[in-house]
Amino acid sequence: MSIARLAIVGGTGPQGRGLALRFAMAGLAVVVGSRERTKGQGVADAMRAKHPGLDVRGDENAAAIADVDVVVLAIAPEGLDATLASLRDGLAGRLVIDVVVPLAFRDGLAEHAPPAGAASAGELVQATLARSRVVGGFKTIPASQLLAVDRPLDGDVLVCSDDAEARTEVAALVARIPSLRAVDAGPMRNARAIEGITALLVNLNRAHRGAHTSIRILGLG
Ligand SMILES: NC(=O)c1ccc[n+]([C@@H]2O[C@H](COP(=O)([O-])OP(=O)(O)OC[C@H]3O[C@@H](n4cnc5c(N)ncnc54)[C@H](OP(=O)(O)O)[C@@H]3O)[C@@H](O)[C@H]2O)c1
Repeated sequence: MSIARLAIVGGTGPQGRGLALRFAMAGLAVVVGSRERTKGQGVADAMRAKHPGLDVRGDENAAAIADVDVVVLAIAPEGLDATLASLRDGLAGRLVIDVVVPLAFRDGLAEHAPPAGAASAGELVQATLARSRVVGGFKTIPASQLLAVDRPLDGDVLVCSDDAEARTEVAALVARIPSLRAVDAGPMRNARAIEGITALLVNLNRAHRGAHTSIRILGLG
């Protein structure tokens, strides 16, 4: 499947804006989704003003996903249940990339805080969107890196899904972003470990002032 058009649900936050920028710079037509159409449009307008020539527009989430090849879920974890319920039918049969990492902070440290009813956000998304092809990805790539478009990205994108073909399609999409490598991370059950790694990265960034950590997998051969 050739992917040319991509929507980002919750695309107005730092992670969504960073992904929108990187995908648009890779030549995709990107729709920045929001609960408020005008907010999505404002983010897209600002992006085009700063980076003329990018094919980016904004819309309300449900409209944003209507006519694209792939949908990225970049909403705040607390919005997951309501957003999945409202978009479930529209996402049926579609390729969906979940980037959500639910975290809680205790004694100054981030820890993985799985949503009620699942061991990870990825597994919740897959269970709720049973008619979609859900892939976890970009969970360990920080927004700060994605938004710093004058610097090359550094890190691997761990791609997990119970649908092996969907993993391959998302890996090919990742490869269109310069400097990023996709690593096939197997079934969606591994999302719980990947989301845990993100908690560690957040803690490393706090401990090492000014750090924007990500991970790279060694020894793949
Ligand atoms: N920031 C990072 O470095 C990073 C790294 C890896 C993964 N992630 C994950 O990526 C996702 C986005 O991260 P972010 O930092 O961009 O998050 P964010 O700024 O907290 O939220 C992203 C967007 O979600 C929407 N939203 C907020 N509350 C909502 C609700 N109750 N219901 C529906 N939508 C809601 C908002 O969009 P509208 O108001 O426009 O609707 C908001 O702009 C998160 O799940 C995060 O765990 C982030």
